[in-house]
Amino acid sequence: MNLTEARKRVRELTELINEYNHQYYVLAQPRISDYDFDMLLQELIALETLHPELQKSSSPSQRVGGQITRKFPVVVHKYPMLSLGNTYSREELVEFDKRVKKSLGETYEYVCELKFDGVAIGITYENGEMVRAVTRGDGIRGDDVSANIKTIRSIPLQIQQAGIPKVFEVRGEVFMPHQSFMKLNLEKQQKQEALFANPRNAAAGSLKLQDSSMVARRHLDCFIYGILGDSLPHSNHYENLQAIKKWGFKVYSHIRKCRNIQEVFQYIDLFEKKRGELPFDIDGVVIKINDHDQQDQLGYTSKFPRWAISYKYKAEQAGTILLDVVYQVGRTGAVTPVAVLQPVLVAGSRVKRASLYNAGKMEELDLHYRDHVFVEKGGDIIPKVTGVSLPDRLPGAEKIQFITSCPECGTALEKKEGEAIFYCPNTTHCPPQIQGKIEHFISRRAMNIESLGQGKTELLIRNKLIEKVSDLYDLEYDQLIGLEKVIVDPLTQQERKVSFGEKTVQNILDALDRSREIPFEKVLFALGIRHLGETMAKRLARHFKSIDALMAASFEDLTAVDEVGDKMAESITGFFSDPSNREMIARLKEAGLQFEVKETGTGRKASSLKGSTFVISGVFQRHSRDEIKALIEEHGGKVSGSVSSRTHFLVSGENMGPEKRKKAESLDVPIISEDKLEAMIAGEAWDHNPNE
Ligand code: IVH
Repeated sequence: MNLTEARKRVRELTELINEYNHQYYVLAQPRISDYDFDMLLQELIALETLHPELQKSSSPSQRVGGQITRKFPVVVHKYPMLSLGNTYSREELVEFDKRVKKSLGETYEYVCELKFDGVAIGITYENGEMVRAVTRGDGIRGDDVSANIKTIRSIPLQIQQAGIPKVFEVRGEVFMPHQSFMKLNLEKQQKQEALFANPRNAAAGSLKLQDSSMVARRHLDCFIYGILGDSLPHSNHYENLQAIKKWGFKVYSHIRKCRNIQEVFQYIDLFEKKRGELPFDIDGVVIKINDHDQQDQLGYTSKFPRWAISYKYKAEQAGTILLDVVYQVGRTGAVTPVAVLQPVLVAGSRVKRASLYNAGKMEELDLHYRDHVFVEKGGDIIPKVTGVSLPDRLPGAEKIQFITSCPECGTALEKKEGEAIFYCPNTTHCPPQIQGKIEHFISRRAMNIESLGQGKTELLIRNKLIEKVSDLYDLEYDQLIGLEKVIVDPLTQQERKVSFGEKTVQNILDALDRSREIPFEKVLFALGIRHLGETMAKRLARHFKSIDALMAASFEDLTAVDEVGDKMAESITGFFSDPSNREMIARLKEAGLQFEVKETGTGRKASSLKGSTFVISGVFQRHSRDEIKALIEEHGGKVSGSVSSRTHFLVSGENMGPEKRKKAESLDVPIISEDKLEAMIAGEAWDHNPNE
């Protein structure tokens, strides 16, 4: 294909992909299969790789992310990004309406919209192409997060409608749908990382990520609620929203024109009821004057428009009866009390269980059986018990005592002096704690057996098929096939079906097989020795070279290693002195796992970077620069000091030199993160072939 033909095909593919994208993500009406869609996208990416000059910054290929932004450039907003005056009281809304009436006379119209609970964004288009997306910041200047925003598939990158203004800006709210939020927190839980408290925090956190390919995986979405510019299609808000909807933006469908404040109240009431059924969070309703001239007439205070206000819903509360308290044991052995309630409707959903946080909080509430309790569902998905109505307590009611032994394994619970949390000390035989260890072992950064994730390990533990990580390597096809269970989250009551079909079982067995090649340093990390993170596991593996040498090391031998402190040394010697751990290691050895450092030049992984030249710049989170260099060289890559046309990748950390970045950008050298480099080493898919 010559350049002219390629240009034509790139244009065709761009239009097709944009159209399918709009149908899927904005209209929720998919027209082609995911497979066919991926084929089109791959064809486009291949053509753009072959002819980089054809790749526009608004190409749909940008949606998969990959760009690293160390520090988001700060941009001054063309139109300040104001916030809204808000109220929780209907009386204040009536007051607002009186002020409007006084200023405008009798004839005006409101537009009611939902107040989406996420992060505000301003997106500018020039000649139909997205040029920049900026966060609110302080309202005057915000961060340019364009690369991250491009990963949101409901936001058009290019608009091809006749009559659109040459330059305009849309304003909207980036949010994380409940489904994406649940998935993200589940993944975080499996990796034993801190969870996001609510979808708003998750959306805000995601937009700040430096690696846009990670943002792409978070599945954010965005509703557009306004347009600004010099030549807008209409002179009122409602018609402008309808126009931008036609241009391809995702505008929420239930926008209502209201002739008076009573109609506004009807809208508020309607969504107060419907709120719990929406697949995303809202925290209220926004009421805006429709006509632009009337908006101008009302004007602004120093912070807010006088032509709009938000009515915020209260965190919904309901009263119900406390039937019992049950206890959940977490991966670390921490015990969480959960209230079992007489079912009650809160924010539109039926609540049967609510969190009581921990023993300290439960003691504070001083709960008795059949107490009348208050349950609240705010921005967080999980409802909480917030208080007790003492006048309603039944005479002679029995106080609920925190349990003294683990509900999972019966071991006596322990609590450190002054702490509010009880722990189960049975780290080796208590099922949820076993699960924690196994999930760490199979995680991507450790043994990378992710086909066993998402509730499957739980099922295996409950069926007594595994108790230790070494049991994984004894699993056989016949034991796994057909296993099935519906797992219900005790708090959210969300159901998830976990099943072992033919393909899943084969994937698991293959992944287990492949994990026999995982290098020693990762195996060491996977063992889950307390305080031993990835970086130190690597350092210890390189220092001692084998598990036998490490197991034989004394406390002094260990603390002699750079950055190994007393706490870590104690933890390591403690781990290896436990006979059950020694036995587990012996069994893992028998299973064929790597317990020695392999010298370079052998094995498949050693050549995973062959033929590629790298330049390293900046400071990294998990490795020193020397370690990054050694890693690249160990895996067949070359390291050079400066970026040139012969550089294949620039590996960037914190504080990367601006000159190197500029040079790399001008030469189209991909800038990759430490994570991406590791993924390449692990042989995961990457979009560059050095032989091309
Ligand atoms: S209009 C000048 N409409 O609420 C008026 N804002 O304090 C500008 N928000 O973070 C805002 N949904 O991003 C408007 N339908 C909606 C909205 C909305 C959510 C957010 C906005 C900002 C905050 C305003």
